[in-house]
Amino acid sequence: MTGPTGAVGDPGVGRELWEAHAGWWQDHFTDGADPEYEEQILPLVAAWVRPGDRVCEVGCGEGQVARVVSRAGAASVVGVDPSLNQVAAGVARAGGPVYVRADAEHLPLGDGSVDAVVVCLVYEHLDAIDAAVAEVVRVLVPGGRFLLMLNHPLLQTPGSGWVDDHLVDPPEQYWQVGDYLEPAVVVEEVAKGVHIRFVHRPLGVYLNTLADAGLVLERVDEPSPPPGFLAAAPGYESARHIPRLLALSLRRS
Ligand SMILES: C[S@@+](CC[C@H](N)C(=O)[O-])C[C@H]1O[C@@H](n2cnc3c(N)ncnc32)[C@H](O)[C@@H]1O
Repeated sequence: MTGPTGAVGDPGVGRELWEAHAGWWQDHFTDGADPEYEEQILPLVAAWVRPGDRVCEVGCGEGQVARVVSRAGAASVVGVDPSLNQVAAGVARAGGPVYVRADAEHLPLGDGSVDAVVVCLVYEHLDAIDAAVAEVVRVLVPGGRFLLMLNHPLLQTPGSGWVDDHLVDPPEQYWQVGDYLEPAVVVEEVAKGVHIRFVHRPLGVYLNTLADAGLVLERVDEPSPPPGFLAAAPGYESARHIPRLLALSLRRS
């Protein structure tokens, strides 16, 4: 499969797609539009913030997480994202953070310059996970905190989804898991005409990359999807047993 100007293996394709579809993201997932952000992700972030901290959000999009960090009492918040359309929306929506256009793999911050870093639904779009994690460690003070949120890499593997099997009697409904152990780069049509590039890696790759970089895991959260999400999927009785989010709380050793 190819992206707009290159092969799916080219990381530049992912950046181009995010630039092209920033408006789609902003319309459907920010500013109160998405129950998972409103009922789950943003409260989780607010509870994680320590007032007075200097915080960097990597892959900040239009800044909804960064604004929550600011409102929760952070001393300063820098949002970093390569997309001009995302950063411009962040600046327009204001609310405290400052924004810089840059990649996760090259953070425009000094060594040991922040107390905490948050990354929300970003690493599944980039290739150089080692470089991105190394940058988090570099900019954190010793003992600094890192909140990493991911689409659950086990249960949300590409190719996963509900199967309504009417070939058996009585009909069965189950959640199919895609090729979990197979690292994969895919461009998915996530809405009509909206293509986004995803980089799948097994959970062990994430955990080993974080451990090798000197980050200590302090807490793991796999919350049940929130009520607003479940209400929108009434046909799926077991949906509450299938987490969509994985949140890892880590500390630089
Ligand atoms: C799913 S959105 C999440 C935005 C924001 N973190 C939030 O939770 O609202 C993914 C974001 O990752 C950004 N992104 C893609 N590749 C990136 C990279 N290499 N470095 C940093 N951010 C990247 C995209 O531009 C996009 O804004």
